[in-house]
Amino acid sequence: MSVHPISATLSTTALALRRAGCVFAEDEALLLHEAAASPDELSALVERRVAGLPLEHVLGWAEFRGRRFAVDTGVFVPRRRTEFLVAQAAALAPRRAVVVDLCCGSGALGVALADASDTAELHACDVEPAAVRCARRNVGDLGEVYEGDLFDPLPGRLRGRVDVLLANVPYVPTADVELLPAEARVHEPRVALDGGGDGLDVMRRVAAVAPEWLAPGGSLLVEAGERQRDTAVEVLRAAGLTPRVLVSEELYATVLVGTALRIT
Ligand SMILES: C[S@@+](CC[C@H](N)C(=O)[O-])C[C@H]1O[C@@H](n2cnc3c(N)ncnc32)[C@H](O)[C@@H]1O
Repeated sequence: MSVHPISATLSTTALALRRAGCVFAEDEALLLHEAAASPDELSALVERRVAGLPLEHVLGWAEFRGRRFAVDTGVFVPRRRTEFLVAQAAALAPRRAVVVDLCCGSGALGVALADASDTAELHACDVEPAAVRCARRNVGDLGEVYEGDLFDPLPGRLRGRVDVLLANVPYVPTADVELLPAEARVHEPRVALDGGGDGLDVMRRVAAVAPEWLAPGGSLLVEAGERQRDTAVEVLRAAGLTPRVLVSEELYATVLVGTALRIT
């Protein structure tokens, strides 16, 4: 019986990955073997992973809410914990929702929400050209992806009409960026991580303008660190939104929802 040369080296690959510090070496080895079309390609993939590139950048995709999203090098890898934010958004989205995914990175959040809810319109934007290119591939004809600073590139006709405003903004305090694992610190763009002095600078900018774009009763959803929770609540309240905090112990996720007043 002939043995495929790639499958013959599965345990060797796992060993190389384990030596490089990969905790889930066996699982990763399987994924790399699946992805490689030839022994040369496998060597190249393993080499990149051993050199410290995030697995998702090596594979070119990340799994988010059970679906594979393209993630190019230089684009923030959507995190498992952010699935909680999308689940909360799906729970509060009205029928025929107008959804904006601000600071969209790969675009995974907006697409996952469209999968899970009745989305009439999806608009996504990011300031990073690499993220915008990647999001355009993931969003496809489900919606529009724009490039620019926060709300700047959005069409004006969305003002006052947004039912769900997803904004997984960067929220790592500047001084903590150096403490992040190398996979994030070295391989994800600083603009995707650094949230300024207390980590909430971008959130403050989003919250300040969000009420202009939200529909009556519409909600802004942001993620924050547990220690940022109380300040983040005040940020939303100061912007005129009604804040709520939602926590997933399982995913170690803290989500803040800021809801605009309903007109009665
Ligand atoms: C933490 S990442 C989140 C990406 C994506 N939402 C996700 O959860 O996978 C933050 C994203 O915000 C983008 N960003 C940072 N500052 C921005 C700004 N001023 N305007 C638009 N996008 C910005 C970054 O390029 C990055 O893609």
